[in-house]
Amino acid sequence: MTDSDVMSAEAFDESNMDKEDNPVDHRAYQAAIISFVVATLGGLAATYGYWSEDSEMVLGLGLATALLGIGFGLVWWSKYLDLDENVVQERHSLRSTVEEREDFHEEVEMTVQTVGRRKLLTLLFAGSIGTLALGFIGPIGSLGPRKGSARGGTSWAAGSRLVTSSGEPILAAAGGFDQLATVFPDGAIGVDDSQVVLLRVRPGLFTERTVEGGTADGWVAYSKICTHAGCSVGLFGIDDRPPQVLRQLVCPCHQSVFDPLDAAKPVGGPAPRSLPQLAIAVDDDGFLIAQSDFDRPVGPISWLEG
Ligand code: FES
Repeated sequence: MTDSDVMSAEAFDESNMDKEDNPVDHRAYQAAIISFVVATLGGLAATYGYWSEDSEMVLGLGLATALLGIGFGLVWWSKYLDLDENVVQERHSLRSTVEEREDFHEEVEMTVQTVGRRKLLTLLFAGSIGTLALGFIGPIGSLGPRKGSARGGTSWAAGSRLVTSSGEPILAAAGGFDQLATVFPDGAIGVDDSQVVLLRVRPGLFTERTVEGGTADGWVAYSKICTHAGCSVGLFGIDDRPPQVLRQLVCPCHQSVFDPLDAAKPVGGPAPRSLPQLAIAVDDDGFLIAQSDFDRPVGPISWLEG
């Protein structure tokens, strides 16, 4: 290796002093700072988005901003440190001279000092990573059920009126047959674990255990959450080919099929258990109401084990 192959300590120092004055490096430095600040704000926005209501978009945009900010920040930081510089070096004898080794050590020390001077960037980078982690805590912690919460406890209670998503109560005598509707407890429209599929069939079609589970004037209600993986059981089909008419509730995710006339027991697909039945009745004004909450937890078994 010749003298020209190894940058001397003086030359290296000069190079770094030049870096401070180089407008390109200065721009890279500023861009890195701005990126990390933006990333930090994104992480804080994501944290706010998770803990405030109806702000999923803020959560998503915050996380995206934080990730992009950190990515851009690292790119600009590497440009500032010239880490993306391509260096081609001739092959030489592998054995270094004493002088070359000394030069090398000086270079390493100088590099350490140079990196040490970038404390602001380091702090901003650490801050943006910290707020990003903060933004992820909520979503990751929300995977599965909350600790200590009683899964199966939904918004249904004795006397809750069944209402459509637009808040219309269901008049027991007015509904048509073989039409599926999604309903919620009055006052809890849109609450995921309380959504129910409601169906009316002609008298005498339900099995005994379905009637015991709480039907009213041909109406039957089941949890809409599939017991396989939690999708919405939103399809209803009738197969009227002889010899018998088959009514089926179908989950579109993996084609689990449930029998609505027989306590929504699974008759096809991967669902391992019946959809919980909501016991219903008719109140004094003729509207459908719940007799109680579900008598079993809704959703997949994995939700119960969390
Ligand atoms: S989630 Fe319904 S079949 Fe898989």
